[in-house]
Amino acid sequence: MDLPFPPPGQAPDSADATLQRWGVGEQPDPAAMAASLTQLIDSETPPPTGMATLIRHIHERYHHVLSGVIEDALTLASVCEAAHGASEAWPHGLSDLVAEILDDLEQHQQREYAVVFPMLLAGSAGTSGVAGIMTDEHARLRCRLDALTAMTRQFTAPPGACVKWRVLYVLCCKIDLDLREQMRMEENELFSPFLRHPTEAVVCSDTMSATR
Ligand SMILES: [Fe+2]
Repeated sequence: MDLPFPPPGQAPDSADATLQRWGVGEQPDPAAMAASLTQLIDSETPPPTGMATLIRHIHERYHHVLSGVIEDALTLASVCEAAHGASEAWPHGLSDLVAEILDDLEQHQQREYAVVFPMLLAGSAGTSGVAGIMTDEHARLRCRLDALTAMTRQFTAPPGACVKWRVLYVLCCKIDLDLREQMRMEENELFSPFLRHPTEAVVCSDTMSATR
């Protein structure tokens, strides 16, 4: 996938360059912006099945893309905060929150690649424990996304907001949608077999026996 931003970890560039990557020059260009965002939208094809294939899909479609989107959002949030920090309409603390989401997500993803996904693929003992830790980290990320949603008033820029502010909220909305979907996929398709409580297995087994 050709991404509209530099690889994660590369030094962030100016807000103007960030805007241009998203199809927004001196004047908003909805068609160009839609074309840019379309690069990030999933096709209607359902995610692949099979653990190894799904892990690769999550890496290529979500992990890599999300880091770039969040870095762009952080660039815009920092610039907007400097410009509009004195305004009552500006959500104070937004750039700190976006930075926390980026930091939490990068650390979480590093743990998944270094430890969790290899254990899942190997079917290692102890997978249940690390899968539980990952779902706990997902819960913390969801709390941060809830805060992002509230702080941006459901990603609705106030009347008169500048272009950078508006693009920032579009990116925040995209971060919210993609990160929630990524975590849902990981929990439902990768972690859930390892998270089933022993008593649940017994109940399921008893129910199946009773219906035979
Ligand atoms: Fe995760």
